Amino acid sequence: MATATRLEDWSPDSWQRRTTLQQPVYRDRGALERAVLSLSRLPPIVVSWEIDALHAHLAAAQRGERFILQGGDCAESLEDCSSERIVQQLKILLQMSLVLVHGLKQPIVRVGRMAGQYAKPRSTDTETRDGVTLPSYRGDIVNRAPFEAAAREPDPELLLRGYERAALTLNFVRALIDGGFTDLHHPEYWDLDFMRHSPKYEEYKRIVESLSDSLHFFESITGRPVADSQRVEFYASHEGLHLHYEQAQTRYIQRRGRWYNLSTHLPWIGVRTAGLEHGHVEYFRGLANPIAVKVGPAADAAYLKELTRVLNPDNVPGRLTLIHRFGAKDIAAKLPALIEGVRAGGAEVLWICDPMHGNTESTSSGLKTRRFDNILAELEAAFRIHGELGSRLGGVHLELTGDNVTECTGGARGLSDGDLARAYRSTVDPRLNYEQALEVAMRISRYAAR
Ligand code: PEP
Ligand code: CO
Repeated sequence: MATATRLEDWSPDSWQRRTTLQQPVYRDRGALERAVLSLSRLPPIVVSWEIDALHAHLAAAQRGERFILQGGDCAESLEDCSSERIVQQLKILLQMSLVLVHGLKQPIVRVGRMAGQYAKPRSTDTETRDGVTLPSYRGDIVNRAPFEAAAREPDPELLLRGYERAALTLNFVRALIDGGFTDLHHPEYWDLDFMRHSPKYEEYKRIVESLSDSLHFFESITGRPVADSQRVEFYASHEGLHLHYEQAQTRYIQRRGRWYNLSTHLPWIGVRTAGLEHGHVEYFRGLANPIAVKVGPAADAAYLKELTRVLNPDNVPGRLTLIHRFGAKDIAAKLPALIEGVRAGGAEVLWICDPMHGNTESTSSGLKTRRFDNILAELEAAFRIHGELGSRLGGVHLELTGDNVTECTGGARGLSDGDLARAYRSTVDPRLNYEQALEVAMRISRYAAR
């Protein structure tokens, strides 16, 4: 294979020869090495044929035949690995995908920020409060959020705890899907109890009823059940930030002659670690998985040209997804030149919009939030700009939860800054709650239809 020759100088640990940003500093290197070795001996969370199936779906999304819904928590926490939380997350993603199927009239590929979304990039390595300086919280796979010395000390054992939780999470998701939880004949199973009080519930119910009607109509005409539609596919993704964790699960698949990261289907590189010369780009270039890269306001066409060349030298469709996240105020100024640049270079990419990370701000009381209107404005602009340039926006990337939190302001209930304290649970970024998430799905259907 052409890529094989270019990968002669690549190995799962070749990133270690590069400058690698956002890695925790472990005091006890021996303990880190032991944890990574244990991790590398555990069975994988996903398998290569599922990864290849997602790759094909991403290529289809690029051709305009599918739409990608990627979403979940900003960061999963070890504590939140409970059946109730997993069910809620799965339900909201399923509900959104129903709304999108109805609106976009094409298959939706569901990709959770789930089962491994434990490591977080931070703007500073340390945090100081009242004259005390401690390492920043970097996600539950690294250390703990409380501002105490013992909690903030990076602990390599947490890599194993995170991996185990990731496996438990995906195991339960698989069981729910296999057991008919996602059966379109019974969308009432997917209802979230508190949804009935939502101003958007009636609209959602109408969509579901219309889909059920179509299904029953089809089945009565053909005289057989729509077997395939009873089972939905669901994929896992996370930011491939902690490279020792990622490396440990990178396996050579003999039959395919390639290296796969078997800790997730779709790993992505965050905006802070996407430097061309840095360790993350080096590690990702050797993977057979489809991969994604976040693209922020600092990116220019020359950077993307080089990035697409390094990460997808054979220009394979579906291999590389670019997730742009500029913020509502910057998207119109930044996105067109990047779309034109990528096209001029002839690079095959799938474009996805993340309307969350460019729209983060702080309230006067210091809480991190996002305004629902800014999220919608960025999404609307993204669909419009891609449309005007004859490009395709093939998906969205959202931070959301099936819970009734108050982290983003606005939405059908018009949450204000003052409402946020009521149910603010995120230790990192503010997420859309179930109602806001559903409303986003309804809006996307409208924006995409224009
Ligand atoms: C994230 O997805 O949570 C994140 C940190 O995003 P970005 O790399 O785009 O800032
Ligand atoms: Co985030």
